[in-house]
Amino acid sequence: MNKKIMEHGHEILASKNYDSMKDFIQHGSISVHEHCLRVAEMSLKINEKLKKINIRLNERAIVRGALLHDYFLYDWHDKTARHKLHGFYHPGVALSNAEKEFGLTDRERDIISKHMFPLTITKIPRYREAWVVSAADKWCSVVETVRMRKKRYNEDGQELKPGA
Ligand SMILES: [Fe+2]
Ligand SMILES: [Fe+2]
Repeated sequence: MNKKIMEHGHEILASKNYDSMKDFIQHGSISVHEHCLRVAEMSLKINEKLKKINIRLNERAIVRGALLHDYFLYDWHDKTARHKLHGFYHPGVALSNAEKEFGLTDRERDIISKHMFPLTITKIPRYREAWVVSAADKWCSVVETVRMRKKRYNEDGQELKPGA
């Protein structure tokens, strides 16, 4: 695991509740836990690029915010009424879960609650760290979804039978 993720995120990663995200699937075979780690890694990569053009951001907030951005702790594939609107509501649920367990800064709160912008059109990120994590999340979600579809469909777009 990336050293910076361990350095800034060890408190979060040591939490039992956080570990339970391994049981929830995000896309395909990727758990929410793994997705959050990927988003943290991608956010750090973007941060490194920004450093090269002299844009300095709060690295700790980026790591902690990315790790907690999807801390909603339920299976969003479960098609109950609430989960149908998962895209709109999960940032608020993640924030409330994270607040209960971890002391958050304003930047970290902004990252978690605004990461779905522009879907949540009224929640425009205030801090640059939130833009970075939101972009990393979108990129990782595209890669995870494309990988999942690649496995399920052949080149002609025909659905593969299980085990094919
Ligand atoms: Fe999310
Ligand atoms: Fe996400």
